[in-house]
Amino acid sequence: MKEGDKMEAKELLCSVPPMGWNSWNTFTDHIDENMVRETADVIAENGLRDAGYEYVVIDDCWSLKNRDSGGKLIADPEKFPNGMRALSDYIHSKGLKFGMYSCCGTRTCAGYPGSLEHEFEDAAQFAEWGVDYLKYDNCYKPATQEGQMLYRRMGLALANCGRDIVFSACQWGTDDVHKWIRSTGAQLFRSGPDIQDTWNSVNDIVNAQLDKQSHSGNFCHNDMDMLIVGMYGRGGNEYISAGGCTDEEYQTHFALWCMMNSPLMIGCDVRKMTEKTKEILMNRDLIAINQDPECRSVYRLEPFPPNPDAFILVKPLYGGDLAVGFFNMGDSASNMSAIFWDMGISRAAKRGLSFYDCLKHEQAGTYAEDFTCVVPSHGCRVYRCSVKKL
Ligand code: GLA
Repeated sequence: MKEGDKMEAKELLCSVPPMGWNSWNTFTDHIDENMVRETADVIAENGLRDAGYEYVVIDDCWSLKNRDSGGKLIADPEKFPNGMRALSDYIHSKGLKFGMYSCCGTRTCAGYPGSLEHEFEDAAQFAEWGVDYLKYDNCYKPATQEGQMLYRRMGLALANCGRDIVFSACQWGTDDVHKWIRSTGAQLFRSGPDIQDTWNSVNDIVNAQLDKQSHSGNFCHNDMDMLIVGMYGRGGNEYISAGGCTDEEYQTHFALWCMMNSPLMIGCDVRKMTEKTKEILMNRDLIAINQDPECRSVYRLEPFPPNPDAFILVKPLYGGDLAVGFFNMGDSASNMSAIFWDMGISRAAKRGLSFYDCLKHEQAGTYAEDFTCVVPSHGCRVYRCSVKKL
């Protein structure tokens, strides 16, 4: 830069994991303008927006099957009769942000036009529509093209389109994406296959991502996929719905996404949420752990007594507290003890930990050397702990 030049002021995007809603899990191709507007109304009015959920993202199937003669993407006029700009303005008028979807290959996963060789013009189009977030999928990629290069292209196109647009790379964890994605400019990256509304799917994702935690951090977050909380088997297709989960399981899934710093993108129909679904999704203490400004990764501890189906996750928080989560993935209730020695408190330190229960929102006492709780099958307990002099 020459002396006197000024950097154009851009917002720093996604210093912490983004939060919002995405149409895919529940609606797949059954999307339309009214449903998206009603969703935005509910998010703005029922407390979700104030809890931090701000992006309203339309996933695949929003366009016509072909570009126009000038090569532009066209919003499907039956699904979106007023066009994307009007929808974007509506979403913005609710104090929310607008997200859309494209793909790095010739077609999207559902067969609509992809952005390959159209990256800069599509980024300009999204900017013109007032888009704030682009999910970028990985289908119909020519075998000769390296994924890394295609994400680099769209990353550069978005960074230069004149608008702040979050780049949500959806690369399914292939090609060791966690090793190179940060250098494409992406603010989040999907690290595994599509989630299903089942307990096994949650379990599989967590097991696959636990040892990749250190690749996630401020400005580029490991996206463990959209939340299934509150779907109860009502997915948009058979693959997604797959049976549903219990509230206990949804609670554990949400707590794991919070502890592991995943973006929190709601996937259920927010117009039909139960009180329990709202309670899980709006848990301010778990959201505060997810949105902790330092985005430090968790470390894993084995509980005492040892149990192959259970683990403890500890996340250091800004200011010196620790978030401590007890997770029991097994089929029977388990007594789980955390030993403070394993978290850096020796006997000689004369320090203990005070426990604040993030599910009950109440203090749970101060302890000297260890802490024990009973965790139901497929359940969790999460605490915010402060170091105390004894
Ligand atoms: C892929 C993605 C999903 C969704 C669909 C849309 O499978 O991983 O999240 O976007 O495509 O077709």
